Parts: sequence; C-alpha cells; structure tokens
Amino acid sequence: MKRILLSLIFIAFIITKNFAQIPRLIEKDGRHALLVDGKPFFILGGQIHNSSGWPGMLPHVWTAICALHANTLEVPIYWEQVEPEEGKFDFSLIDTLLIQARQQEVHLVLLWFATWKNGSNHYMPLWMKNNSAKYPNIIGKDGKPVDSPSPNYNATLDADKRAFAAVMKYLKNADQRHTVIMMQVENESGAWGSVRDYSPVAQKLFESDVPSALLTPSVLKSLNVTEGAKGSWQKVFGDRADEYFQAWSVASFIGKVAAAGKAEYQLPMYANAALRDPLTNPMANTYESGGPTDNVIPIWKVAAPSIDLLAPDIYLRGSEKILKVIDLYSQADNALFVPEAALSADNVKYLYEVIARGGIGFSPFGIDDNGEGKTDAEIAERLSSFAKEYAMIEPMMREIAEWRFEGQIKAVTEREDFADQSIDLGDWKATIKFGGDGRGNRPPVNTKPTGKLMIVKLSENKFILIGTECHITFQPIGKNEGKAWQYGQVEEGKYENGKFNVLRIQNGDETDWGGPGFGETPTVLQTTLIIR
Ligand code: DGJ
Repeated sequence: MKRILLSLIFIAFIITKNFAQIPRLIEKDGRHALLVDGKPFFILGGQIHNSSGWPGMLPHVWTAICALHANTLEVPIYWEQVEPEEGKFDFSLIDTLLIQARQQEVHLVLLWFATWKNGSNHYMPLWMKNNSAKYPNIIGKDGKPVDSPSPNYNATLDADKRAFAAVMKYLKNADQRHTVIMMQVENESGAWGSVRDYSPVAQKLFESDVPSALLTPSVLKSLNVTEGAKGSWQKVFGDRADEYFQAWSVASFIGKVAAAGKAEYQLPMYANAALRDPLTNPMANTYESGGPTDNVIPIWKVAAPSIDLLAPDIYLRGSEKILKVIDLYSQADNALFVPEAALSADNVKYLYEVIARGGIGFSPFGIDDNGEGKTDAEIAERLSSFAKEYAMIEPMMREIAEWRFEGQIKAVTEREDFADQSIDLGDWKATIKFGGDGRGNRPPVNTKPTGKLMIVKLSENKFILIGTECHITFQPIGKNEGKAWQYGQVEEGKYENGKFNVLRIQNGDETDWGGPGFGETPTVLQTTLIIR
C-alpha cells in the first residue's frame, strides 16, 4: 500500500513538474515575462520566408539560424500541408521541426498559416478552396468578391478550430521537452480590399445590436465612444462601424480557434498585425481591416481572450512611428513581442527599445536564402548587423530577461536628428551623445541614426552599459546633486554562465575624453560610479 502511495506521489510530482515547465506568460506590476523552463526568457528570433518551412529547405534555415546566433526559429506550419484531405492530418513537418530544432538547440515559435495569411485564404487546403460556397470569401461593398476569407461563416471557423486543435493535441504529446514555446494563430489577419464583408449573412449581423461585452464603460472610453451608447454597429460607432465590426468578427473567430487549441495544450498564443500609420488615425480602407491594428486592440482584447498578446510586425519606417508602435503594443494587458521586423540594419536598434520596454522577444523576417543558392558567407553577411547583437546578448539572455522583468533596464536609440539623449537613473543622469568620443577616433556625429545604448541598473551606483556608436557621461542628481564624482571602475567584458568575465579595465584615454565610448561592435561595460 505504502509503495503504491509513493508511486502515485512520484507520478503526481512528475506531472506537476512537467506542467510547471510548460512555457507561459506572467505579469507583475504591468511588466511581462515569457517563462521557459520556469525562468524569464527573451526570444532572440529569426523568421524564415513563407515557403521555407519544408524539410528540403531546412538545411539553409539552420545555416541562417546559426549565423544569426538566434535562440528561436519562427517557422510557419501550413494548413494545406497539415490537412491535405478533410479530417486526415499529416504532422510529419512538426516531427521534423522538433527533431532538427533540438539538434540545433533552439526553440520554435510555430506560425499557424490557416484561414488568414496576409488577409487571404491562400493556405486553406485545396478541398476548402474548391468549395467556395461553404468556405466563402468576403463580398465587397460593390457586390464583387474580395480575395479574403469571410470571418462570418461557421463552416470555416469549425474547420479551422478542428485542425488547430488537432495540431495542439499532437504537439502536446510530441513535445514534452517544450521545444515549441509559443504559437502564432493565423498570420496578419483581416482584409485588404474591403473594410468588411457585405454579404447578406454578414450584413444581417452588422445590422443587429453591438454585443454587450463591447459596451462596457472602459471599452467604450478606449474607443472614444460616449458611455451608455447602444444599438446597431452604425449607431454606436458611426464612421468606424464597418471596421470595428470586421475587427470584432475576425478577433472572435481567431479567439475561438486559439481557445480550441488551448483546450488541448495551453501554450502562449498571439496574433500579429499588419500595422497602420500609428500617428494619423487613417481610415481602414488604407490598411488591412480587422486585424489587431492599434486602434482596435480593445476590441480584440474583449473578443479574443485566449489570445495572450497582440504583436506588431514592424515594416514602418522612421523612429517616431516605430517608437509609437512599441508604446501602443507594450501595455499592462499586452506583452510586447515583435515577431517580424524588416531585416535592415536600421531596425537593429529597436531590439534595445523592446528589451527596455519589458518586451519578450524580437525577430527579423526573411533570414534564410529562400532558395536563391547564396553561400554561407553571403547569408552571414546579410544577417551580420543583427547577428553581432544576438551574439553579445545570447550568453547573457537569461540575465537580460530577468533584469527586464524587474524593470531595471532603460535604453536610448538614436533618432533622425542625431540629438543627444538622457536617461534618469535616480541618483545619476546619463547623457548619451551619438558618434565618436572627444578623441576624434570616429566622426563626432554618426552618418546614419543607428547608435544605441541600454543601461541596466544593478544598484544605485553600479550599471551595465551595452551599446554601439555612442558615448556616455554621467552627472550626479537627486541626493548627489552638485557633488564631485569619478568612475570607480569601467570593466569591459562579457557575461558567461551567469558571471561577468572581465576582458580589461578601461581607463585613461578610453574614459577620460567625454566618457566611455562604444564603436560599431556591441560592447558590454560594467561601471561603478563614486561620489567623492
Ligand atoms: C508580413 C507577413 O506577415 C510575412 O508573412 C511576409 O509576407 C512579409 N510581410 C513580407 O514579406
């Protein structure tokens, strides 16, 4: 009897331990962490091209992942491949990905390319595409069909739910090591070419009352609608009614797909957005309507509670717009994750902003050679601007993820005006000048606004500085205002196995001429400051 009891306790312990290890998102004081193996994790990701998630393409993918020093591959799984015949599933691609990702020692984020891929139905299985009466596209305002699936038909929803649930069920069993850490449900959902579906089925829904879940004072306030409004979509939301109806329809659909998946296996799940201009509040006929754009985040939160976060795909240009997007998507109820950013050296600096705002990951898009036959050296060259950052962060990723979660990191990134910026560190103000230091080793001003600096506050007078193309000076403020000070030590080195290993102590010319400087290769300095 005793033996049976002990075995049961042991089994319960294993199950609990296993459950505890399932990747999950947590929140504390408005900050978020993705826990992998029970500890905060930061996704240094790389997303491959749309048609590269096939076994024959994977060798090139791993070459790119290695060259990038990424810890996570974002890879599509395709509904048309997973369910080639109705109700008959093929999970061989998932098996291959799990085996190879483990060999490469990287995690996976799987992208469920299903009802929506960039607003179209192109990844639906052929048996669905061949039955457009049952799985219809949107009808535009002019009565013409639009190349985008309607979110208002249950047959499509049921088919997607069934397939996604089958994927998650399979994964739960096949991935007990938790190689897969998050799921993207659909890809850039919504519609291009029509703000909503104007088919008779959708029109009837549009003319009925707005669901009460959207009429709470806080949701109405966030949508700039007077408290107490009720009635039809048109009556409550006026000139935004078409778009909000589409957002509600798409989000409700995707929320149900995610819920069906989570009922099988509760991994974190997100939906990504094709962004709109975040500064000018344009109308939805100029962007993809119904996806999780910034203005409809409150609608998505209500309609799709099983979606843990809404994620911006960053293809906009210019720091004003991009920083605004980063602000809009890093909220107490939304962990910031950038699953796609254009693979351009200009975008590397936003990795620092995402870390400093408590984000959980970042990933450039299109890291592999996409069947072009590039050499390994050419691939590495394309990835080099991100790769050198990832190579520096990777060995200290767990520390960064923890500091970020505790709110200890601040960052500045160079703007188009190349102006100096400052950071308030409590007892110290740090001023960051972009370009070379006072010794004239490099041009005093950068030629492109790519400089950046991240500061980790370890204690009142001890900081870790990580940066490129800038230099930094300190000034005592607060209780130290006006006091004399000096550097205690400025140690250059790197984190390895949880320890800072010192390469050298910077001093003399390296610190006396306008403060410690950072060149093109990201450098990590551990700095103590002394009040005299
Ligand atoms: C954003 C989409 O989400 C990606 O799948 C891809 O199509 C890129 N745009 C553009 O290449």
